[in-house]
Amino acid sequence: MADRTGDMSYETGASTLLRTRRSRVGDCCHVLVGEGKELLKEIRAWILVRFRYRGARVGRSFHVGKAVSIGPGFVAGDFVYIGPHSQLPPRVHIGHYSSLSAQVAIVGSDHQYDKPGVPVVYSGRPPSSVTTIGKDVLIGHGAILLRGISIGNGAVVGAGAIVTKDVPPYAIVVGVPAKVLRYRFDEQEQAIHEEMLAQPATRGQHPGPLM
Ligand SMILES: CC(C)(COP(=O)(O)OP(=O)(O)OC[C@H]1O[C@@H](n2cnc3c(N)ncnc32)[C@H](O)[C@@H]1OP(=O)(O)O)[C@@H](O)C(=O)NCCC(=O)NCCS
Repeated sequence: MADRTGDMSYETGASTLLRTRRSRVGDCCHVLVGEGKELLKEIRAWILVRFRYRGARVGRSFHVGKAVSIGPGFVAGDFVYIGPHSQLPPRVHIGHYSSLSAQVAIVGSDHQYDKPGVPVVYSGRPPSSVTTIGKDVLIGHGAILLRGISIGNGAVVGAGAIVTKDVPPYAIVVGVPAKVLRYRFDEQEQAIHEEMLAQPATRGQHPGPLM
């Protein structure tokens, strides 16, 4: 509580103490609410993995939006986010800190269509392959990735891209088919980032809603 005298403002010892205590109580509530939310997220993820995405192996703070389809053999590191209405086939592996925006689809290698005399619907499936998304990757809204490709650590896939080939680490790719627009970091910055990614994953400060 600040007392005002003319143009001067000053605080008494008591008002400073009161303000500090209030802000500590405020901080405490903030931390408790934050931790409560995290706990609820963990419980939600546990229920989803236990009953809906059976057999999936996920790390801490796994977030999956509504109406997401995840195939068997799914593996995700810590702090992975899957946006709503995304479609993930079997055997997708995702590293720590990676985010898939809404409506991301990983498709392909799903139907055989090379058997004369057999309709495609009855032609069977080609061999299954692993799709790898590295650590700290951002896949933009509505991107489509072909199944079996690898996205390197730190890469960014632009909204609406169709990714048909492996993406190098730290590349920013856009378009149809996706091409490298530029690199997110120079070599020295990549080395700093790789060093961080090689450490056990730690929780950070989420930026909050867009303003
Ligand atoms: C790919 C992306 C990260 C690039 O951002 P940026 O570095 O700020 O790029 P710029 O806006 O400077 O654009 C550079 C060029 O790429 C083009 N471009 C940017 N994003 C593009 C995209 N998604 N698809 C096609 N072209 C794109 C721009 O038109 C521009 O082309 P020009 O040089 O011919 O004018 C960003 O545009 C994007 O798609 N982010 C994903 C956002 C998203 O999906 N968020 C989901 C909410 S969580």
